[in-house]
Amino acid sequence: MKLKLAVLGSGAGSNMQSIVDAIEAGTLDAEIVCVLADVPGAKILERAARHNIPAQYLSCAPFKTKLEGEAEENYIRVMKEAGADTVVLAGFMRIVKPGLLAAFPNRVLNIHPALLPAFPGLHSWKQALDYGCRVAGCTVHFVDAGTDSGPIIVQRCVPVEPGDTPETLHARIQVQEHLAYPEALRLLAAGRLTIEGRRVLIDGR
Ligand code: GAR
Repeated sequence: MKLKLAVLGSGAGSNMQSIVDAIEAGTLDAEIVCVLADVPGAKILERAARHNIPAQYLSCAPFKTKLEGEAEENYIRVMKEAGADTVVLAGFMRIVKPGLLAAFPNRVLNIHPALLPAFPGLHSWKQALDYGCRVAGCTVHFVDAGTDSGPIIVQRCVPVEPGDTPETLHARIQVQEHLAYPEALRLLAAGRLTIEGRRVLIDGR
């Protein structure tokens, strides 16, 4: 079934771009019905506008790190009015709360720049580098009430190379992110995902 996506972001929007590219290439049966950013002037808004996708800044005040209260209600209202059935967190640097999860049950996805459950939270690629990991990567998962803790849909890994800096490692991870998010959404659109406890079954397996 064609997905109606609301994409939430705070920054550059390269993951949103990868989803747009997949849709435009005909490899993902979806439409982005709105893009919302919690940072005024975020580049993700500019990118969306370039593809004629309705996009706007929506304040999350007074909260700094979460989406709750009146701000949460505003986000839900705008997404519902746009006809969204699935929420895609794409570099949205806030914790979403149970109100949003209840409005879109099992339909909120996130991408995280680490192989969860390792390195939840911020600057995960730097955490992996500082820890001395030999591999790093990204995870697309359903969002639950915890932080970066929901059932995992897709993971992709990359080597950590000698001489890597946080920037070079993040760039390598992002190449995989741009494959992982469309891949996860393709599985969702095809109705191939079932959540069973902590696990996501693909085609019932
Ligand atoms: C991505 O690397 C994403 O995994 C990360 O922010 C970046 C956003 O890039 N998300 C998190 O760290 C969430 N905890 P983008 O704006 O270019 O898509």
